[in-house]
Amino acid sequence: MSAVQELLLLLLLPLTLLALQASLCHGACVEVDSDTEAVANEGFKLGCISCKMRGEVPAMASVKWSFKAWDETEFTDLYSYEDQKAEIIDPRFYERLDWNGSKNTDDLQDGSIYILNVTFNDTGTYRCIFSRTLKYRDYEYNISPNKTIVINVVPRLTRGLASILSEVMMYVSIIGLQLWLVVEMIYCYRKIAAAGEEALRESA
Ligand SMILES: *[C@@H]1O[C@H](CO)[C@@H](O)[C@H](O)[C@H]1NC(C)=O
Ligand SMILES: *[C@@H]1O[C@H](CO)[C@@H](O)[C@H](O)[C@H]1NC(C)=O
Ligand SMILES: *[C@@H]1O[C@H](CO)[C@@H](O)[C@H](O)[C@H]1NC(C)=O
Ligand SMILES: *[C@@H]1O[C@H](CO)[C@@H](O)[C@H](O)[C@H]1NC(C)=O
Repeated sequence: MSAVQELLLLLLLPLTLLALQASLCHGACVEVDSDTEAVANEGFKLGCISCKMRGEVPAMASVKWSFKAWDETEFTDLYSYEDQKAEIIDPRFYERLDWNGSKNTDDLQDGSIYILNVTFNDTGTYRCIFSRTLKYRDYEYNISPNKTIVINVVPRLTRGLASILSEVMMYVSIIGLQLWLVVEMIYCYRKIAAAGEEALRESA
């Protein structure tokens, strides 16, 4: 290989790797687990991602969510998303849920939903169930991957309160440090003065 060819290779290798990485990353599906701690009166995304084992096989999927409040024993239907149409089934969540999953496709891999205004009554277990039909050339195959998420709702530590607290802590520590400094200075001054007197007396 000539030096020019080697140089070209060195220049091209990173570019090829970059292109490879881009093609791997583009459209790659990653199953990220949902957060499990929601803050009251804020929005919260209930994540549910189910990747196809083989991304290249065309598929159709719909998603159903069900909910079991912490004081209930059975799951009840909460939400459904099919043919790009969403429906909120549970009246407790009317006008409070939004689709956060795959958009403009029937081949859903992300079935996440968004609670607009979390209340403490939303504490409980959520389950999302995909109904996926994989379309191979000669046959179809149905699977229903599902995920269960336990959500805990916590009160909000308002930004005001948090910043007031940190400000108070700042003053406390500044004043505390200065007091300590003054005490230390007085102590040292006394010690030095005593040592000086001692020395005077000895020399006398
Ligand atoms: C959320 O709900 C609470 C209580 O129902 C209400 O006071 C608050 O204004 C709501 N917040 C939003 C952003 O809708
Ligand atoms: C999820 O939906 C909410 C409410 O419609 C929106 O504010 C938020 O940006 C959405 N997030 C994503 C990642 O789509
Ligand atoms: C929560 O549930 C209790 C009992 O079912 C009900 O009285 C209360 O109004 C609910 N609160 C909200 C914010 O929906
Ligand atoms: C949920 O998925 C598991 C396998 O991961 C399966 O055994 C189970 O039947 C599914 N449940 C429902 C309700 O589809």
